[in-house]
Amino acid sequence: MYQRPRRNRKSPAIRKMVQETQLSVSHLIYPLFVTHNKKDKSPIVSMPGIHRWGMEDLLQEIEECLALGVENFVLFPVIPEEKKSKKGEYSYDENNFYLKVAQEIKKRFPEANLMSDVALDPYSTDGHDGIVENGVILNDETLPILSQMSLAQAQAGFDIIGPSDMMDGRIAAIREILDVHNYTNTSIMAYSAKYASAFYGPFRDALDSAPKAGDKKTYQMNPANKKEAILEAVLDVEEGADFLMVKPALSYLDVIHSLNEHFTVPITAYNVSGEYAMVKAAAMNGWLDYDATVEETLLSMRRAGASAILTYHAKDYAQSLKK
Ligand code: PBG
Repeated sequence: MYQRPRRNRKSPAIRKMVQETQLSVSHLIYPLFVTHNKKDKSPIVSMPGIHRWGMEDLLQEIEECLALGVENFVLFPVIPEEKKSKKGEYSYDENNFYLKVAQEIKKRFPEANLMSDVALDPYSTDGHDGIVENGVILNDETLPILSQMSLAQAQAGFDIIGPSDMMDGRIAAIREILDVHNYTNTSIMAYSAKYASAFYGPFRDALDSAPKAGDKKTYQMNPANKKEAILEAVLDVEEGADFLMVKPALSYLDVIHSLNEHFTVPITAYNVSGEYAMVKAAAMNGWLDYDATVEETLLSMRRAGASAILTYHAKDYAQSLKK
């Protein structure tokens, strides 16, 4: 035998020397759920270890994360029922607590890289990402609301705007309103290939944002499709996206790989709530080694071509490195 691949695996030093993919805390973006109630820390049952945070505890959580090297955060608002409406006007109301929390975070921790969520569902009485009329999700009528929401978020200090709504043309609409108001330095991370997935279940529990009627299949993608992800990505790049996201991650590693081959902008992966819940539940039952499984899954997303990963495991992973 001239070739013995095992020679390159014979010691930890050699294995590390030839390791092709690196994973570090700097690649991770930590999602946090924010409530209007200042003093609040309520656990999310279907996501053990993850909470809804009021502003005070949230600031402390962010401080702890920064000390662990986690510097990127994405915030999702838990909107009280009485603030919800057909068109989600509260999303850009100047008294919106989500915007105030963002302002406070940037004031206290300017080094934190803060990403927003743009979509109607948390604010909508219908629980859909766009305006609903007679059971139809309206596209063009939704764009001005998404634009207003994005501008309000840029004004509040968010570094990256994260449209997760999957309406056609929203990246161009958002880029335009940001530029017109001189927010040329505010980035856009497009949820480009966002699939109609069963893996979002725990997230919708956390936000109480599940659709009241119907499903999201007229705007989120069919899990069977890959070429369509390229079409979505082409449009998002043309319209001004700085990053292209694939969501969920684990069942869509081939899509991450494809986008990374075709595009020069960074590709990101969203390791979603249901993927977190699966690993956590198995580990809590003693069926999987939690730290090892988390490292392997995150590494697989990096190997597939993701530059950054949105993951609820971010803090756990950072802590595991200190052990
Ligand atoms: C909604 C939104 C969803 C997620 C992020 N933004 C859910 C959905 O589309 O219904 C899911 C994230 C997760 O499951 O972790 N705009």
